[in-house]
Amino acid sequence: MTIPRSKTTPAIALAGAFIIPLLLILAVQSSTGQEKAAPPTPPRAGQDWTIESHDRSNFPLTGKHRTLSCRECHLNLVFEGTPTDCEVCHWQRRQDDRYSLRLGTRCSDCHTPQSWKKVDPALWSHETNVGYKLEGVHRTLDCEACHGTGGFTPRPTDCYACHESDYRGADDPNHLQAGFPTSCPSCHDQRAWENASYNHTGFTLQGHHASASCAECHKNGVYEGTSTECVSCHLDDYNGTSDPDHKASGFPLDCEQCHGTSASGWSGADFDHPFPITSGRHSGVACSECHTTSDYRVFNCLGCHEQSSTNSKHKDVTGYAYNSQACYACHPNGQAAPATRPSSLW
Ligand code: HEC
Ligand code: HEC
Ligand code: HEC
Ligand code: HEC
Ligand code: HEC
Ligand code: HEC
Ligand code: HEC
Ligand code: HEC
Ligand code: HEC
Ligand code: HEC
Ligand code: HEC
Ligand code: HEC
Repeated sequence: MTIPRSKTTPAIALAGAFIIPLLLILAVQSSTGQEKAAPPTPPRAGQDWTIESHDRSNFPLTGKHRTLSCRECHLNLVFEGTPTDCEVCHWQRRQDDRYSLRLGTRCSDCHTPQSWKKVDPALWSHETNVGYKLEGVHRTLDCEACHGTGGFTPRPTDCYACHESDYRGADDPNHLQAGFPTSCPSCHDQRAWENASYNHTGFTLQGHHASASCAECHKNGVYEGTSTECVSCHLDDYNGTSDPDHKASGFPLDCEQCHGTSASGWSGADFDHPFPITSGRHSGVACSECHTTSDYRVFNCLGCHEQSSTNSKHKDVTGYAYNSQACYACHPNGQAAPATRPSSLW
């Protein structure tokens, strides 16, 4: 007969005197498919007990209990009738409960003999047992910061109920004046007041906008009525352009039309140009080839389309004239056909 491999194997070796009955127990249990054997019986005489004897009893010494002297639990070395209930030793004998039973008498519901401080979340947590998760700063607070010393009675869960004075006292920005809602979580988490964020429904913060501070857009703490028009914040940028000079060129003030809303940068402007310059014969032609002056309302086609060759292409075309306005009027799409003939030229 071989000894089945199980957690109890080292214990079997220790309990030499009991090996025969134990093997019988194991044999019975393995035949019923059970893995765990009953702990071997500890010695009978009180003084002969060791920590290992205790391991085999129904009160194994774990955590801090393992380091204690026998006397601390067995007062006057009386062994029989020693209580097993945490509360008896830790409240009736000595008042160890910091919260004076306000959390209940069954210490083992929440604690193990490892340490009173570390409460295993599998045993008890504010989230699962109370239904309210302590996050950020709240996790590190003393229970009494919220519950006071009276007892663990329910507290309001709404931030404003506990933080009204913080709201009223906030001056950078002044929350009352800015007309902020009292639902703090729409801008704050529970880590600190300083890292506010706000979900802009009417104006998605992306690119450089996402990293800008609230105050850069909401000057002087004014939040209501902030315009979403790019130019309301970027007029100085517009006026300061040189390449191309937007103001001199008469660029529209509607930045979005050419710069989109990504706010990733001003370069790579993409706009719906009236004459095809991203496809066909003129794709990739530099702006300055047609816009020879800084005024973008003005354009020139003749630099490339020489007079003699162009004239010869229009021998049969009524209303033809060799000037840029005329070229554009008949060729608004930059193609030979279909060429339109503006009524003014007929
Ligand atoms: C943390 C407290 C604690 C410590 C330390 C402790 N014990 Fe115990 N001991 C108990 C408890 C509780 C029981 C009762 C277990 C039960 O009723 O099943 C017990 C039971 C016993 C018993 C059996 C009593 C009976 O009813 O037959 C003996 C013997 C014993 N302990 C000896 C010792 C010795 C020797 C030491 C030191 C090496 C020691 N204990 C350390 C808590 C402790
Ligand atoms: C409902 C769960 C619960 C029960 C029951 C309970 N406690 Fe606690 N106890 C806690 C929590 C939670 C803490 C706080 C731990 C922390 O600081 O995060 C705590 C803290 C303590 C502390 C202070 C730890 C420290 O140094 O900050 C002691 C001591 C303590 N409990 C002893 C007891 C005793 C003794 C009993 C039984 C009489 C008991 N507790 C019952 C949940 C409980
Ligand atoms: C037979 C008495 C007895 C029983 C039962 C008992 N303890 Fe203890 N426990 C003690 C003694 C004595 C100490 C050492 C006291 C000290 O130095 O603070 C101790 C220490 C502790 C400590 C360490 C305190 C520290 O200073 O770090 C914790 C935690 C603890 N016990 C939890 C429990 C829990 C949980 C239970 C129930 C599962 C329990 N005890 C049952 C007697 C007992
Ligand atoms: C940030 C504030 C805050 C802190 C800190 C806090 N609590 Fe609470 N606690 C609450 C709120 C809020 C409730 C009510 C939750 C609900 O009703 O949904 C509550 C409810 C409870 C309840 C249930 C009360 C009942 O009768 O229903 C217990 C027990 C409790 N807390 C224990 C603790 C313990 C233990 C600590 C320390 C580890 C602690 N709380 C720390 C805010 C807090
Ligand atoms: C039951 C009361 C209670 C509720 C509810 C509560 N808090 Fe707290 N909170 C506290 C206490 C107490 C403190 C610590 C003392 C302090 O700094 O005001 C604190 C601290 C904070 C801090 C850190 C303040 C600092 O100075 O670092 C922030 C941030 C915070 N809470 C945000 C929130 C938010 C957001 C909510 C809602 C989701 C909320 N709190 C709900 C009681 C509460
Ligand atoms: C619409 C967004 C918004 C809401 C809602 C909001 N806050 Fe704020 N809060 C901010 C901004 C923005 C800051 C400045 C953040 C920074 O300094 O980085 C701030 C800062 C604070 C500060 C620090 C202010 C100072 O003067 O030092 C406190 C305290 C504060 N908020 C409390 C609250 C409380 C309490 C609530 C809910 C009752 C709340 N806030 C709701 C946006 C908001
Ligand atoms: C890049 C510019 C920009 C930044 C940065 C910005 N906002 Fe805004 N914000 C706007 C614009 C534009 C509006 C108006 C459109 C809207 O309501 O979504 C607005 C609207 C708001 C409103 C609504 C005001 C009302 O009408 O009631 C609040 C509150 C707000 N912002 C808070 C914040 C907070 C808090 C921050 C910092 C965390 C922030 N904003 C950062 C541009 C910005
Ligand atoms: C409420 C004010 C506000 C509005 C409206 C606004 N912006 Fe901005 N924008 C800012 C701020 C503040 C910054 C960051 C600081 C800076 O670079 O000027 C910024 C940055 C940018 C940048 C990055 C500039 C760089 O340095 O690379 C671009 C591009 C930009 N915005 C484009 C736009 C466009 C396009 C619109 C309209 C769709 C727009 N913005 C609307 C305030 C605004
Ligand atoms: C008709 C299209 C168009 C419109 C409208 C437009 N831009 Fe531009 N913008 C451009 C083009 C094209 C460039 C050059 C892009 C490149 O270099 O890739 C440019 C470049 C820029 C530059 C960088 C060049 C420099 O000299 O600094 C800034 C800043 C700028 N635009 C701001 C604005 C602002 C602010 C508005 C709105 C008030 C605006 N733009 C409206 C087409 C436009
Ligand atoms: C092949 C010639 C050609 C090229 C290349 C060209 N354009 Fe144009 N552009 C025109 C024509 C034709 C018009 C139409 C003028 C009209 O409708 O009055 C025009 C119109 C414009 C307008 C409109 C001004 C207004 O009044 O709305 C802007 C702005 C402009 N171009 C900017 C640019 C920029 C920036 C580039 C370079 C990326 C560029 N153009 C390249 C021919 C050209
Ligand atoms: C940078 C030089 C350049 C400029 C400026 C230019 N073109 Fe062209 N264009 C070309 C070239 C090259 C071709 C192809 C060769 C050809 O057909 O002459 C062409 C072809 C054309 C065609 C015939 C396309 C086809 O489908 O065969 C038309 C129509 C045309 N251009 C009209 C214009 C008009 C209108 C302007 C002014 C708004 C203009 N071009 C400005 C270089 C230019
Ligand atoms: C009155 C209208 C009109 C004017 C003005 C006009 N064109 Fe044309 N163009 C046409 C017509 C019609 C054709 C012939 C289309 C066909 O045969 O399919 C044409 C053909 C062309 C061709 C293609 C020739 C070929 O066979 O490849 C080019 C290039 C061209 N035009 C450029 C210009 C330029 C540059 C100007 C300005 C100097 C201009 N056109 C002025 C109506 C006009």
